[in-house]
Amino acid sequence: MEVPKFLLLLLFAATFAQSQERLQGMPSLRKGNSLKVEEETNVLVSPDGTFSSGFYKVGANASCYSIWFTNSANKTIVWMANRDKPVSKRGSKLTLHGSGNLVLTFDRCTWYTRNLVLRNQAKRVIWQSFDSPTDTLLPTQPLTKNTTLVSMRSQGTYLSGFYNFKFDDNNVLFLIYNGPQLSSVYWPRIIPSVFESGRNPYNSSRVAILDVAGQFISSDNMQFNASDYGVGPKRRLTVDYDGILRLYSLHESTGLWKLSWLPDSVDACRVQGLCGEYGICTYKPQPTCTCPSGFSLNDPSDWSKGCSPPFNLTQLTQDTSKLDFLELPYTDYYGYDMATYTRGISFEACRNSCLMHSSCLGFGYALDGIGECYPKSLLLNGYRFRMLRASSM
Ligand SMILES: *[C@@H]1O[C@H](CO)[C@@H](O)[C@H](O)[C@H]1NC(C)=O
Ligand SMILES: *[C@@H]1O[C@H](CO)[C@@H](O)[C@H](O)[C@H]1NC(C)=O
Ligand SMILES: *[C@@H]1O[C@H](CO)[C@@H](O)[C@H](O)[C@H]1NC(C)=O
Ligand SMILES: *[C@@H]1O[C@H](CO)[C@@H](O)[C@H](O)[C@H]1NC(C)=O
Ligand SMILES: *[C@@H]1O[C@H](CO)[C@@H](O)[C@H](O)[C@H]1NC(C)=O
Ligand SMILES: *[C@@H]1O[C@H](CO)[C@@H](O)[C@H](O)[C@H]1NC(C)=O
Repeated sequence: MEVPKFLLLLLFAATFAQSQERLQGMPSLRKGNSLKVEEETNVLVSPDGTFSSGFYKVGANASCYSIWFTNSANKTIVWMANRDKPVSKRGSKLTLHGSGNLVLTFDRCTWYTRNLVLRNQAKRVIWQSFDSPTDTLLPTQPLTKNTTLVSMRSQGTYLSGFYNFKFDDNNVLFLIYNGPQLSSVYWPRIIPSVFESGRNPYNSSRVAILDVAGQFISSDNMQFNASDYGVGPKRRLTVDYDGILRLYSLHESTGLWKLSWLPDSVDACRVQGLCGEYGICTYKPQPTCTCPSGFSLNDPSDWSKGCSPPFNLTQLTQDTSKLDFLELPYTDYYGYDMATYTRGISFEACRNSCLMHSSCLGFGYALDGIGECYPKSLLLNGYRFRMLRASSM
């Protein structure tokens, strides 16, 4: 089996532990030696220089043992140990023990990175950190039935977020929002079906891989090539904090990332119920919930609780002459269409059909000429149309 490039970093730490060699003036980690959190310049560099690893500051007094692209601006993290429980600033260290175990010590607790086993005397690779990626998949690193990419909570916050990329129980790769209150698949679209989106649910091997040339192949038939296809650029496939899966290629001289692939029709604002009743999802630049003008957010810490109107609708519906509508351009509340859906009718007729039904809370009207009228029994899954843009990373 070819050893993936990514593995070399920590192999280097183990194999060089026995020799006296040093690389680029960077200290190598020898048995019994430590990387200390106080010494931020203390890093290990992979033999070809692509990756560096060491303690990465994630807050005022907190660091996480991490691996990043050496030449990326602002150290783009590709892997982080225990990102939801950073170690405190002082006294933490990573030690390579004689047994070959890397042990991260902080305060009085010790966290054994049993999976960070490197390579044994017989040179067998037993390192498992490939199996617990964070938000990024690297070329040659397989995505299997055991692995899930989990986004960051927000830009610059390394805490685990709610957007996941993984294989589902039908053997299909998908993006799902898995929040504390609700859970919803937003890619591929449920309509059209999995088959229509070109996926194959019958191959249960559940393995996907991005090769060094930038070709991604999955057992469910999901396939794509980087726009800069070919061996050369360093790439990463990341579930960004906004829930969008993106392939990036590194521009070596500037350290900036160029977008080299993005799925068709992926949209994290399609997460059902994300913004609750009346709420509308927009990108600012990540999915954000707002309320229609005059309405108020019920709970700013939990968007799924929706918005409240500035009036009591139950009282108003007694007298339809007091009712009016609020116009929301380029907006849809998808789902919850009433059986009175019609096409080929005027805007006025559509408006009246909603007024006539006491259970109608609003209506969608397509202005594209066909005159489609969608009276709604619930205003949920509010969504403002937009053009999909690359994140600014
Ligand atoms: C960081 O640690 C210092 C010294 O222990 C302390 O004074 C400071 O309040 C801490 N800051 C935070 C944000 O925890
Ligand atoms: C690097 O981080 C700084 C501070 O957060 C930010 O102002 C700058 O735009 C970042 N640069 C890049 C290339 O992301
Ligand atoms: C997935 O995890 C199971 C249980 O830990 C293990 O036996 C299996 O080899 C793993 N499969 C892959 C493809 O890593
Ligand atoms: C299932 O997918 C794997 C990985 O892409 C592939 O090697 C294998 O040939 C596929 N099996 C079938 C029956 O198509
Ligand atoms: C990617 O490129 C390879 C090599 O040119 C080609 O065989 C393959 O069909 C391409 N895949 C896609 C999805 O375009
Ligand atoms: C709205 O009015 C109805 C009927 O008067 C009342 O039962 C209900 O509690 C009111 N709702 C709110 C939110 O004030």
